[in-house]
Amino acid sequence: MYRNKLKVITGLSFFILLGVAAAHAPFQKERNLKVLPKDISDQKLDSIMETYNIALGVKCEFCHAKVKGFADSLDYASDAEPMKEEARKMMRMVIDINKNNFWYNKNTQPEYLKTVTCRHCHRGEAFPPEY
Ligand code: HEC
Ligand code: HEC
Repeated sequence: MYRNKLKVITGLSFFILLGVAAAHAPFQKERNLKVLPKDISDQKLDSIMETYNIALGVKCEFCHAKVKGFADSLDYASDAEPMKEEARKMMRMVIDINKNNFWYNKNTQPEYLKTVTCRHCHRGEAFPPEY
C-alpha cells in the first residue's frame, strides 16, 4: 500500500519536473520581428518593451495576444492583437523622426535611437489627447 503510494508520488513528481523543464527549455522559436533588428538581444528587447509599457501606461497584453486557453500567458510572437501592428507603425515613425531630423552617431542602429521616444508624445497615455 505504502509502496504503491510512493510509486504514484514518484511518478507524478517526474511529470511535474518534466513540465518545469519544458517550460524553461532554452529552445527559441524564430522571432517575428519586422521593425527591430533580428539580431537583437533578449535584454535589449525586454528593455525596449518595458519602455512601451511606461510610455503608454499599459501592460504587455495591450499589444500582445493571450495564448488560447491560458489567460495568464502571452504569445509574444503572435500578431493576433491588432494593436501590435499599430505599434509597429509608431515604431517606424519614431525611427524615421530620429534618423532623418537629428544628428546621430552612425555606428548606432537607427532602431535604437532615443532622441525622440514614445514617451515624448504619450506621457503615460495610450491615446495622447489632441492639443
Ligand atoms: C505598444 C505595444 C507593445 C507593448 C505594450 C509591448 N510590446 Fe512587445 N512587441 C510589440 C511589437 C510591435 C513587437 C514586434 C516588433 C517588430 O516587429 O520588430 C513586439 C515584440 C515583442 C517580443 C518578440 C516576440 C517575437 O517575435 O519573438 C517580445 C518577447 C515582446 N514583445 C515582449 C513584450 C513584453 C514582455 C512586454 C511587456 C513588458 C511587451 N512586449 C509590451 C509591441 C508591444
Ligand atoms: C509624435 C508623437 C508620437 C510618438 C513619438 C509616438 N506616438 Fe503613439 N500615438 C500618438 C498619438 C497622437 C496617438 C493617438 C492617435 C489617436 O488617438 O487616434 C498615438 C497612438 C498610439 C497607439 C494606439 C493605436 C493608434 O494608432 O491610435 C499605439 C499602440 C501607440 N501610439 C504606440 C506608440 C509607440 C510604441 C511609440 C514609440 C515607438 C509611439 N506610439 C510614439 C503620437 C505619438
